Amino acid sequence: MHGIHARVSKNFVLEDRLERYADAIEPDPYAWAGRWAEACHQLTREGLARFSEVRLDLGCGKGSFVAAMAKENPDVLFVGMDTEPLCIVYAAQLICESGLDNVVIVPGSGMRVTEMFAPGELSRIYLNFPTPFPRTREARRRLTDIDRLADYRRVLAPGGVIRLKTDSQPLRDYTLVELGIAGYDLLWSTDDAREAGVEGPSSEYEDRLTAKGASVFALEATPGEKPARMEQTDRLGLVAYLPSDVNAIGYVPRGMESTVENLRNRDLKRRMGHHHRRNFGK
Ligand SMILES: C[S@@+](CC[C@H](N)C(=O)[O-])C[C@H]1O[C@@H](n2cnc3c(N)ncnc32)[C@H](O)[C@@H]1O
Repeated sequence: MHGIHARVSKNFVLEDRLERYADAIEPDPYAWAGRWAEACHQLTREGLARFSEVRLDLGCGKGSFVAAMAKENPDVLFVGMDTEPLCIVYAAQLICESGLDNVVIVPGSGMRVTEMFAPGELSRIYLNFPTPFPRTREARRRLTDIDRLADYRRVLAPGGVIRLKTDSQPLRDYTLVELGIAGYDLLWSTDDAREAGVEGPSSEYEDRLTAKGASVFALEATPGEKPARMEQTDRLGLVAYLPSDVNAIGYVPRGMESTVENLRNRDLKRRMGHHHRRNFGK
């Protein structure tokens, strides 16, 4: 019994699964820069042709969005990338079980896209519910930070597009600021993706958060004229993008629950203070 327990440890299960679904995983994405469309086509299909486009789902999570997109667009190669090993395993399992031959799951970070893709190699980058990293000191980890936007500019083909979906109005508004600084043109933006009829399948987080009452903010942007220099905003903490009346916030964006609670408590204390002072003065 002991032996079985030791073998069925979390790591064993993870490694075992990584092996089982290895067909859908590319462990060395750096080796493919500039060759994704041809190389993956030759691996999966007869002949010497190439995929018509390569699109990246950055922070793909468990892969339901990238799988559904791939099913709808069989001539396009989709790369689903995430830093989390468990996500890689789940996404690879989904791809293997769906029998899709136009998706590759890649363990890797959005901090290094310029090493994994050649200039102009990608036609689209999807950012579905990226981790918001609300604090100032984490701002550089956001996938819509100006440095990331500068990287995407390099790997996107002319006319290439990034699409953001998020439940977080502060992250959306910060992203609009960053897009402006990084010289992107906003193609469209909506406060309610569903009402606006934004195309495409939903992701795991989209389903989960809309069930909790979230509206989905979405936008698309394309690199415009490259700015001579980019100066980062000093409004880096997402708290700066919350509405000034914290009590008017209905749905609290994911990752900002404790911030909003603190602000509401502070506001309550302030108002109680006024109240006390008023009564005291009587
Ligand atoms: C909130 S989840 C969203 C997952 C999926 N896109 C969805 O909408 O259901 C954010 C994902 O981004 C991944 N992530 C965070 N930082 C990343 C980075 N630098 N590069 C790639 N993925 C990252 C996390 O591991 C996580 O799976």
